Amino acid sequence: MRSVSIFVGSVYGNAQHVAEEAQTMFETKGVECEVFTDPETSDFIEAEAVVVISSTTGQGDVPQNLEMFHSDLRDEFPLMNGKPFAVAALGDSSYGDSFCGGGRQFSELLLELQGKPVAEMLEVDAIETLSPEEEVVPWLEGLVEALTE
Ligand SMILES: Cc1cc2nc3c(=O)[nH]c(=O)nc-3n(C[C@H](O)[C@H](O)[C@H](O)COP(=O)(O)O)c2cc1C
Repeated sequence: MRSVSIFVGSVYGNAQHVAEEAQTMFETKGVECEVFTDPETSDFIEAEAVVVISSTTGQGDVPQNLEMFHSDLRDEFPLMNGKPFAVAALGDSSYGDSFCGGGRQFSELLLELQGKPVAEMLEVDAIETLSPEEEVVPWLEGLVEALTE
């Protein structure tokens, strides 16, 4: 069974909280899981299954704590060779076209790196839910097998 590495991008702590709840869920199911808030490319290369949980800042931007990671991945381009991944994006639809832009940037990059998406990106709208973990954790729970098998 693969372990799961969660890469979390968060400005105000919402995505961070979601990632911690997701980690608990994975561990309860017997899946080894680590949360990275300040990751390096090597953490990504060593990951057996990749989960990105990212909010959006600015105008469709990746949160600052993952900015360097994102640009390093772009530069170093470590191919995933079909490694499974899932992206959950936290955003706010009042930002219009830049809704969930941070998560979208990761989704696009992981596809370019030839990862295998186990589901379409989940978009969580802050206008509709005050508890993003209530959407993200059950969604990930449904993906445990696809991520870890
Ligand atoms: C200054 C600022 C800029 C934001 N820009 C966007 C944006 O461009 N697109 C979007 O979907 N959400 C945007 N948001 C909404 C956040 O992504 C959303 O509130 C999210 O839940 C914050 O999660 P966090 O606490 O993990 O950072 C923005 C929020 C703030 C405060």
